[in-house]
Amino acid sequence: MTSMPEFATRRRRLMSQMGRGSAAVFVSAQETTRNGDVDHPFRQDSTFYYLTGFEEPNAVAVLRPGHDEPFVMFVRPHDPEQAIWVGPRAGIEGARATYGADLAFPIEELDERLGGLLSSATTLYFPFGEVEHSNVEPLISRIVARRRAAAQRGMAPLEAVRDPLPLVDAMRVVKSRAEVAALQAAIDATGAGLHAAMRATRPGMHEYEVQAILEAEYRLAGSPRDGFPTIAAAGEHSCTLHYTANRARIEDGDLLLLDTGAEVDYYGADVTRTFPANGRFTAAQRDVYQIVWEAQAAGIARVRPGVTFHSVHDATLKVLVQGLIDLRILRGSVQSNIERDAYRPYFMHGTSHWLGLDVHDAGIYRANGKSTALVPGMVLTVEPGLYLASDAPRVPKRLQGIGVRIEDDVLVTPSGRRNLSGRIPSTVEALEALVGSGD
Ligand code: GLY
Ligand code: MN
Ligand code: MN
Repeated sequence: MTSMPEFATRRRRLMSQMGRGSAAVFVSAQETTRNGDVDHPFRQDSTFYYLTGFEEPNAVAVLRPGHDEPFVMFVRPHDPEQAIWVGPRAGIEGARATYGADLAFPIEELDERLGGLLSSATTLYFPFGEVEHSNVEPLISRIVARRRAAAQRGMAPLEAVRDPLPLVDAMRVVKSRAEVAALQAAIDATGAGLHAAMRATRPGMHEYEVQAILEAEYRLAGSPRDGFPTIAAAGEHSCTLHYTANRARIEDGDLLLLDTGAEVDYYGADVTRTFPANGRFTAAQRDVYQIVWEAQAAGIARVRPGVTFHSVHDATLKVLVQGLIDLRILRGSVQSNIERDAYRPYFMHGTSHWLGLDVHDAGIYRANGKSTALVPGMVLTVEPGLYLASDAPRVPKRLQGIGVRIEDDVLVTPSGRRNLSGRIPSTVEALEALVGSGD
């Protein structure tokens, strides 16, 4: 678990960048109804968690650098009736004692108190436009309007309203030791799940049965929930990038693509393995698989400090396009096919994204026309694929319906990289030895 001092350090770092005379307001995630009296499972907003560690809905955090009481929280107070139905809340006391708030108030007092707490700020940081903040945005707007009117009467004006997320996201994209440890735990749980799923897979099972094996292992390995809905895609479904129906029967001769990740302490793995359900690649499946495997190896080898985020994609793309030429799907040179985007029907997504609290994590990919340079502590996925859907152009019959993606989670280290999920089998030989080997 991330320690309370680490959350406090993050707030201090953020406040030192905001500067004196400013204040920031962050809002928790809200509960959402699923149906009837049932809510969707609640998960705290990632940025709110990153800065507070607080896991309840209906909360607001205020940061006031340079102030005697810089960290203020509004939370749901203790409620004996609610405690009977859904359990205890941290309450006002917990916000102070456990979460380190200098001041804490009931959330019901937000309207009457927030303006006063922000009254000496000349710069207000608030992330307008986030869906989950729609309950607090009107209040912020009213406070801004009141400050404008007050400035006419000689009070200190509010000079700027700014977005805090670029500052927080720049922090989130570089992981601390504790964050890497949480990610590694999530990845190790995911590895245990994939190992069990590979051993158990047989033709005739359904995609959701394999999903159940994965997710049972995650729970047993210490992961309370998944980072995103598991993709268990057999046969032609492997060509659908974010397939989540997971209802189909797995046929003899199908490839099974599993794109999945356990979550530990809010940090989520994101790993894909593709393997033959009956334990033997056909020659056609192996040809495609080997190209994607080599493309991924080239992408991972590219990761090191100083290289750009997009150069990882360039490295995988060259190998994939050469492979498409070797498979006689594309003609001409690698370069000309890349320039014409001719590979797009078969590889239509990027190679990488940042990974952390969100599966597609916070962080800039490109600024001022320049791709972000990698620095130690960043974690990115490397996930090339080839998707040869039967209705895609120029796919020979023997290759139709083959979709392959291989995805690993890679930490940038001072000397290069560490593939955090590299122990999860991905070679043809290792997969053939493992798939179906369970009792
Ligand atoms: N699992 C979603 C992705 O790979 O980006
Ligand atoms: Mn994935
Ligand atoms: Mn991914």
